[in-house]
Amino acid sequence: MALWGGRFSQGTADTVFALSRSVHFDWRLAPYDLRSSLAHLSVLESSGLLEKSDAAAIKAALKELASEVESGAFTANADDEDVHSALERGLNEKLGVIGGALRAGRSRNDQVTTDLRLFSIDHMLEIARQLTLLQIALLEKAEEYVNDSAPGFTHIQHAQPVSFGHELAKHAHAFARDLDRINDWLSRTSVSSLGAGALAGSSLPLDPKTTANDLGFSSVFANSIDAVSDRDYVAEALFIFSLVGVHLSRIGEEWSLWASTEFAWAKVSDSYSTGSSIMPQKKNPDMAELARGKSGRLIGNLVSVLTMLKALPFAYNRDLQEDKEPLFDSVDTLLLVLPAITGMIATTDFDREKMSLAAPMGYSLATEIADYLVLKKIPFAQAHEAAGKCVALCEKDGRGLHQLSDSELASVHPALDAGVRAVLTVDGALNSRTTHGGTAPDLVAAQISLALKINSGTMATITSAQAHFSEMMSA
Ligand code: ARG
Repeated sequence: MALWGGRFSQGTADTVFALSRSVHFDWRLAPYDLRSSLAHLSVLESSGLLEKSDAAAIKAALKELASEVESGAFTANADDEDVHSALERGLNEKLGVIGGALRAGRSRNDQVTTDLRLFSIDHMLEIARQLTLLQIALLEKAEEYVNDSAPGFTHIQHAQPVSFGHELAKHAHAFARDLDRINDWLSRTSVSSLGAGALAGSSLPLDPKTTANDLGFSSVFANSIDAVSDRDYVAEALFIFSLVGVHLSRIGEEWSLWASTEFAWAKVSDSYSTGSSIMPQKKNPDMAELARGKSGRLIGNLVSVLTMLKALPFAYNRDLQEDKEPLFDSVDTLLLVLPAITGMIATTDFDREKMSLAAPMGYSLATEIADYLVLKKIPFAQAHEAAGKCVALCEKDGRGLHQLSDSELASVHPALDAGVRAVLTVDGALNSRTTHGGTAPDLVAAQISLALKINSGTMATITSAQAHFSEMMSA
């Protein structure tokens, strides 16, 4: 059913209808559209624009339609252009002409962005919940390995030994920043656009603040022209999703490396691995690879929306219809990836012995020699040079740093004595890294328990926001 046509003398060409049509993807806005219609109805009623009896009939029909949409008894048909026209048809089928009364003072332009804000908030809260669950999996796994050493890397080369718990926990901190960004995003997105009309507001006595409140928004638009054309919240959500995707891709990359025969640190559980159709021995970390690969489409969706918004003039333009599919796709992608990666992390076991044997390899304790000399008041540049010479000596015959003789040490630097061997152990190196945020296992344990504490506060906030949202939706 078309919502326009009075001024047209010819019907729409099939190709135009096909290009125009959005109901095959915007149908998922139906519950939010129905809810915002209820809010609009209530201001039409309280401002005296609708008879009480008509308002009551429309309200009952909207509620009935909502349950039919939920059960699937009412769906869009081939002639419906978008979710708004499909639902108005549904209303008219129940009510006859009075169904059309609801359109007073409202345009699809303010309606669609109100629906999309509600959709975004609803799904962002679920993504936030999944992120906190992912953080828990990372932090609990990190707790298991706090006292296990492993080589820490820079440039994928052994750098300095670290607590493996420290290495795992780092990812949870990246997601904590994403959760912060979500919180920030919510404050800018929880702004109602309903009442902006097509662009200029309305001559009818509507009350956008009341509708905003009814729909659980924190505030209302300040400029009606901006309200119908602003999709910053979509672009910003897509940026957050892209960054989450990038963070997931870094986990995916590490897990894939760790599960390789070359590393052989990680044993990914069978339930989170896949096989090969031709090589019977294969067990592949496909979930990790998909986490890495899906970041591409998340970034693509962001670029797609930013490009669509660029140079868009004035108020509403039909280009804006292109905001939905990228947003829906990113939401769906993350809601698939996040629980799978959480499960993969929670069920992976690591080979403690292999990691700790590897920890001192590659002369990763060379910094200890330099620091030892610095404590003896040797300027760091000289200390660094001396430690480098020790590595060069050892490399000649494949010895470890702790195997240099007293005279070899003295030949490298007069201040280098047998005492240095005491610091040339992985445990010594780990336990001495006690500066803020460092890798000393006691510190790592404290970092993790603080992060878990912050996480449970975040989880409580999200749970209550989700409860408020569903209460608003079912009003
Ligand atoms: N389906 C449109 C969208 O998603 C909303 C309708 C506004 N259409 C219009 N011709 N003003 O943006």
